[in-house]
Amino acid sequence: MIEESQMLKILVLGATSAIAHETMRHFAQDGARFYLVGRSVPKLGSVAHDLQTHGAKQTETYLADLNDLSQHEALLQRAITALEGVDAVFIAHGTLSDQTRAQTDVDYLASELMTNFTSTASLLTHTANYMEAQKRGVIAVISSVAGDRGRASNYVYGSAMAAKTAFVSGLRNRLAKAGVQVITIKPGLIDTPMTAHLKRGRLMAHPSLVGEHIYRAMKRGEGVVYTPSFWRYIMLIIRALPEAIFKRMSLSA
Ligand SMILES: NC(=O)c1ccc[n+]([C@@H]2O[C@H](COP(=O)([O-])OP(=O)(O)OC[C@H]3O[C@@H](n4cnc5c(N)ncnc54)[C@H](OP(=O)(O)O)[C@@H]3O)[C@@H](O)[C@H]2O)c1
Repeated sequence: MIEESQMLKILVLGATSAIAHETMRHFAQDGARFYLVGRSVPKLGSVAHDLQTHGAKQTETYLADLNDLSQHEALLQRAITALEGVDAVFIAHGTLSDQTRAQTDVDYLASELMTNFTSTASLLTHTANYMEAQKRGVIAVISSVAGDRGRASNYVYGSAMAAKTAFVSGLRNRLAKAGVQVITIKPGLIDTPMTAHLKRGRLMAHPSLVGEHIYRAMKRGEGVVYTPSFWRYIMLIIRALPEAIFKRMSLSA
């Protein structure tokens, strides 16, 4: 269980994400202070306003394209200054890659891997060193069930998520010695702007459900969180399928 005081100053990267927003509403109710980073002024303003109405004590916003790695170190320093320290970092930015385009357009492929993996690895490198030095804190990163096994329909996005999951796992192992909690969040299919173009089905969950689950899991200090939790069992089966059967399947979600 993570102490209440360990998560009252939160740096949120990709703060305009629907999942991040829903999760942060719960921390706002605890009276948290936020440093919200995103790439759209109106969206950041609206998230900040909403978190204030939910009880946030402070909401600072900062505009950044997180693919610009040169900004990351300064960005963390700004958050530390504005909040007088950072207890928790939540990393949520990402894009659902267009698999078909990425199969022929290598510049697009590289930019998707930047958004969905490299930028997070850079942010985590700065954050980890800060948390390790202060010997406490929480780092939570949204990865995806898509990283559990590469599929024909989305292996570009999936491979970035697999890399993210492995990076965060290693970091958890490293930072445990410093008393820092590192949490991997693996959502299944969630109804957010990212998936707006996908067909709605029974497996699609509402972000408010997921936000509440992530909040509780962060407070409990869980290492790996599948959300909704039934995805743990779906992915257990998908990972266990023999390659010969898996090759013949067309899993689109
Ligand atoms: N929805 C799902 O089914 C699902 C499933 C598994 C994992 N995830 C992961 O969950 C995370 C949150 O996604 P979501 O579902 O909440 O979708 P979302 O509402 O579309 O959020 C994605 C966020 O990432 C931001 N972003 C993208 N590229 C960025 C960049 N270069 N710099 C700064 N911000 C950037 C977007 O900003 P703009 O609004 O300005 O574009 C948006 O706020 C992502 O990492 C996603 O991969 C989602």
